[in-house]
Amino acid sequence: MADNKKILVIGGAGYIGSHTVINLLNDGKDIIVFDNLENGHIETVEALKRIGHVEFIKGDLRNFEDIEDVFKNHKVDAVVHFAAFALVGESVENPSKYYRNNVLGTLNLLDAMVKYGCKKIVFSSTCATYGNPKYVPVDEKHPQNPVSPYGASKLMVEQILNDYDIAYGLKSIKLRYFNVAGCDSQARVGEWHEPETHLVPNILKSTFSGGKTFKIFGDDYNTPDGTCIRDYVNVEDLADAHRLALIYLENENKSDVFNIGTERGDSVKNIFDSCEKVIGKKINVEVAGRRAGDAEALYANSKKAQTVLGWKSQRTIEDSISSAYRWEEVLQEKLNGVKV
Ligand code: UFG
Repeated sequence: MADNKKILVIGGAGYIGSHTVINLLNDGKDIIVFDNLENGHIETVEALKRIGHVEFIKGDLRNFEDIEDVFKNHKVDAVVHFAAFALVGESVENPSKYYRNNVLGTLNLLDAMVKYGCKKIVFSSTCATYGNPKYVPVDEKHPQNPVSPYGASKLMVEQILNDYDIAYGLKSIKLRYFNVAGCDSQARVGEWHEPETHLVPNILKSTFSGGKTFKIFGDDYNTPDGTCIRDYVNVEDLADAHRLALIYLENENKSDVFNIGTERGDSVKNIFDSCEKVIGKKINVEVAGRRAGDAEALYANSKKAQTVLGWKSQRTIEDSISSAYRWEEVLQEKLNGVKV
């Protein structure tokens, strides 16, 4: 039987998805989380259920019936779609995994939406669709020439979404995220990847494991301190961009695309120094070789999101590091029984 209108969050048991669910619950929304739990965690779903009204459906977008059943049985007002594999290096080694999941899985979702008349979607895209930037800060008009199957898979979905708007009137907001950092300020959910590859959690993890050394991937780039520059947007700020995108779809009923970043570039060394400062500990560090596929410098022009969506990056990198550290303490205790 159909129920009240709901927001369907695909990949809601993952890092950015779960923070967005909290934001939408705080906004009074009823949420369905659909997740195959390949990268998401049931403990995250349980934490979300303690916060507000969340229904969890375990399913995989690669099976059309799994996602069709959701629309058959619920009145879904709009979809927010996070589910994707997102590791650049892995995508180069295993493109099939990326295209099957990120592109074919999304096609199943969109076809189910069209079949059941759901016409609004917010899609997690990425600055990786731009490839190696020709200029920074990168705005939405920057040419899109992805250099990895991951970036290509996200760009393909952007193009599919544009075509589905023309053919079926499906309206989409594509949010091109820059790098994401930080965790829920109450440490109820957080960044929990296995293995973890991202900068901030990797620096923080090295403070827990008895002398493990954090590795900087390359200090011979053409940047002021030789390390790569990225734009680290706070995950709770990013979550809020999804709420605003849903409001925009509701009010304007128009497709569009927005960069979501802080417009500030931080080098790997900057981030490392800030981590030492915020947590007040010396962290062991060594310089390792460059990591394949890393762009030298990447940061956003996010003016369009500011003027059109009314979104603004509010939290600082120090805020992100301290919330990520609090979460890392919770996670270490959960996984290893390490009490800090
Ligand atoms: N880095 C290190 N040591 C580490 C981890 C990372 O030096 O242990 C460096 C990387 O070489 C890079 C920077 O920190 O220069 C950021 O690396 P991340 O792995 O944290 O993030 P990426 O920029 O590689 O990728 C992330 C997401 C992608 C997304 C991209 C957008 O994983 O999905 O941000 O820039 F597309």
